[in-house]
Amino acid sequence: MAASHRNISSAEIRAAVEHAYEKLRDTTGGKNADYIPYLANVDPKLFGISACLPDGNVISVGDADVTFGMESVSKVPTAILAMREYGALGVLDKVGADATGLPFNSIMALLLEKDRPSSPLVNAGAIAACSLVEPVGDADGKWKAIVDNITELTGTKPEVIQELYASESATDFNNRSIAWLLKDYGRIYDDPEMSLDLYTRQCSLGTTARDLAVMAATIANDGFNPVTDKQVFDPELAPKVTSMITTVGFYERTGDWLYKSGLPAKSGVGGGVLGVMPGMFGIAAFSPPLDEAGNSVKAQLALMQIMDELGLNIFAASRLCVCG
Ligand code: DON
Repeated sequence: MAASHRNISSAEIRAAVEHAYEKLRDTTGGKNADYIPYLANVDPKLFGISACLPDGNVISVGDADVTFGMESVSKVPTAILAMREYGALGVLDKVGADATGLPFNSIMALLLEKDRPSSPLVNAGAIAACSLVEPVGDADGKWKAIVDNITELTGTKPEVIQELYASESATDFNNRSIAWLLKDYGRIYDDPEMSLDLYTRQCSLGTTARDLAVMAATIANDGFNPVTDKQVFDPELAPKVTSMITTVGFYERTGDWLYKSGLPAKSGVGGGVLGVMPGMFGIAAFSPPLDEAGNSVKAQLALMQIMDELGLNIFAASRLCVCG
């Protein structure tokens, strides 16, 4: 049976984004992250959505330009950076690309799979990915590489939210345990404390829904940033990072999320969610209150609503293209 073909216009995408915003703007539910003190005090009413199309057109509604903590979404660019430096197979070998089915900060996941931290998109693998970043042994050089890579992916140079960084550094005991367990297992490739600090700092970077939508669009466009018109990374790495986003983007809720939304997406406890529709668009939503797994309640609802209105699902057999 032939797959159905349908074109989708930027006007339809704009309408779907606006409808989701209007429908959900007064929706409540969830709770700001409180294990990182700074995040507990962010305005829970903030809500923004942004979509970036292959022609570089960015559609934004609500608080799409408000800065918030990138948190776990920062695992995505640094996974890409590690792949740019070590290749897709190098990262598979040194970190892994498996789902854990467990919470993002699970020590149990690491104990169960001590030979590999599983994926650069969970805390253990993300700290390992930071340890891989070149130049090994040089904290300043590594930090510059992390920030430069994000700047290329979003088109905007991110700044650390110093209050968030201080707040997170003062409370990151669980992540410190992970860093030292990685050391015990021979699965960290630079100094554990330095790797942990780089990870904490990248989580504390400020971002916006708009920036995340551009990053997502760069992944959806095989590494070509449609806003800056630059090829940021090798096209062959795009499906690799999208596969990681697909398998572990919502941690222990990833299967439920994919089943409901049909969209590979990655969340952060700052309230951001980045979604990748390969070949079509990048999308992001931001709303601070989270469910128990640490995923933004309203951002999930918004992205599901948009996918539903557009009739999109990455697992569906229809062939779609954005045109017009
Ligand atoms: O390491 C942490 O716990 C935070 N810096 C990031 C966690 C996070 O964003 C999980 N995502 N939903």
